[in-house]
Amino acid sequence: MDMPHTPTRSHWSNRLAFILAAAGSAVGLGNIWKFPYITGVNGGGTFVLIYLMCIAAVGVPIFLAELFIGQRSQRNVVESFEVMDRPGTPWRLPGWLGLASAFLILSFYSVVGGWVLDFEYRSLMNQFAGHSDEEIKAVLGSLFASPGRQLFWHALFMGAVVSIVMRGLNAGIERWNKILMPALFVLLALLLVRALFLPGFGRALEFLFAPNAEALKPAGILEAVGHSFFTLSLGMGALITYGSYLQSREELVRTAFTVALLDTLIALVAGVIIFSVVFSFDLDAGAGPTLMFQTLPMLFTKMTGGYFISVAFFLLVSFAALTSAVSLLEVIVTYWVETHRKSRTVTTLVAGGVIYGLGILSALSTNLLSGVKLGDKTFFDLVDKLTSSVFLPVGGMLISLFFGWVLGPKAAEAVAGKGKYAHVAALGLMWSARLVAPLAVAVVLVHGLRDW
Ligand code: PHE
Repeated sequence: MDMPHTPTRSHWSNRLAFILAAAGSAVGLGNIWKFPYITGVNGGGTFVLIYLMCIAAVGVPIFLAELFIGQRSQRNVVESFEVMDRPGTPWRLPGWLGLASAFLILSFYSVVGGWVLDFEYRSLMNQFAGHSDEEIKAVLGSLFASPGRQLFWHALFMGAVVSIVMRGLNAGIERWNKILMPALFVLLALLLVRALFLPGFGRALEFLFAPNAEALKPAGILEAVGHSFFTLSLGMGALITYGSYLQSREELVRTAFTVALLDTLIALVAGVIIFSVVFSFDLDAGAGPTLMFQTLPMLFTKMTGGYFISVAFFLLVSFAALTSAVSLLEVIVTYWVETHRKSRTVTTLVAGGVIYGLGILSALSTNLLSGVKLGDKTFFDLVDKLTSSVFLPVGGMLISLFFGWVLGPKAAEAVAGKGKYAHVAALGLMWSARLVAPLAVAVVLVHGLRDW
């Protein structure tokens, strides 16, 4: 099953660079913005439990499957399935779906990245200090109301993503991840310590970790499953693409566990911090997408050195968002450069432009287009829900089936390596990919979609 290397392909400089890039892709707005807000909307405890179970039972096996497919094929998200199976195989479908997901996700992701930039600017200008909690709560609303402001920050964010991806793997993505991810971890730890002294800390823990099954509907369960894909960057080939820059003998299992653990930890820490503020200042846990933007500035204005913490925090979140966004665009660019032999610069610019255009519809969803709805969902809501609750789970399910049934025991054994328990691990991985993961996703999809 060993495939020859494409001589022109770049590779990660070392193991750490790869782990940081994979973590950079996984850790992003999904952890700090989205996880707390959907947890709040879905009532806490049980939602978190399902999310955690999914990461362990479904997420990690699919994570391994994607890395393996990328590493062995040394190809982009579409061709990798052909290299592993045969030219023209119908298994390219998850590849195409992945490309579609990348376009759609990045289009609204960049808009939210823009909100973070706006908050970074306001922090720098010290615009939160001296304002009441009510006034701080209204800040995001004023950004929502302004199409010009939204489009400006969306453009800036997308521009940054394009300029990093254009420079290629080693000079762009790798360098930035190495510096910024560790800084984010340190700052979150600092905020966690501060949250410990808030009166709402205990209730935050209870909200996040005490089961409360009655609060959760089937659509909420689907959202928990979908988010476990979103947060690990699974189901759309980001990890196939990053895995394809690995040397062929690099070990995968440790990497997958490290990244999944790190990603989960960061989401939980962000959740604890944000809900400590929610319960200390009597805010609405179910506020939705505005949650992070309303709670954290309130905390910052009450901390010594709050100005600097606020500036550093939004800066680091924008970088976390950027490293994830980069991995989304990289999926598209690698495909066009490799399969259609287009130049990296041109492809990146064109794809970035198309995604920016698509994102305009999301940016205007809070103002000019707020009345244009399908059911009760604006364009923004629709793209967000459709990708994480449908495209990613379906893509992940197909990738899992491909790994389990088409690649089979040989692939599982290759991933499990030669350790003492390798045989058991391989069996576990293969059956998880063949049955457990696809079945779990299928059941949740059928029930969740009926309830959508
Ligand atoms: N995992 C990223 C986050 O949590 C989002 C993402 C999804 C990135 C899919 C790449 C692919 O923010």
